[in-house]
Amino acid sequence: MKEQVVCKTSEIQPGEMMKSTFGKQNVLICRTPDGDFHAFMNQCIHQGAPLDKGMMCGATTESSEPGDYQYCHQGEILRCPWHGREFDIKNEGRMLANPDKKIPSFKVRVEDEDVIVYK
Ligand code: FES
Repeated sequence: MKEQVVCKTSEIQPGEMMKSTFGKQNVLICRTPDGDFHAFMNQCIHQGAPLDKGMMCGATTESSEPGDYQYCHQGEILRCPWHGREFDIKNEGRMLANPDKKIPSFKVRVEDEDVIVYK
């Protein structure tokens, strides 16, 4: 099994992300507000934008009242910088608008202070 330390836990605060490398691949390490780490290929599946230039945000959902939007999943959505496609960090990087599509992801575990990505 291939694995690699990609960063220290202290380098990413909850709600933040940073790019790193895993072998020759550019990866994006996201830390959701609950403190969990997630790793994805740092490239949008649409036209290849570097996702670390995007932002971690929430999703808007329309509630029963027309025009009444609610914000949810704060800090759990990754928005692409180029055309705004949104991906669910906690759900394998699936695209919100089309859950059949997702950003390739990697497994992550934390040992002591090390964030380790593996396949
Ligand atoms: S390149 Fe990401 S939405 Fe187009």
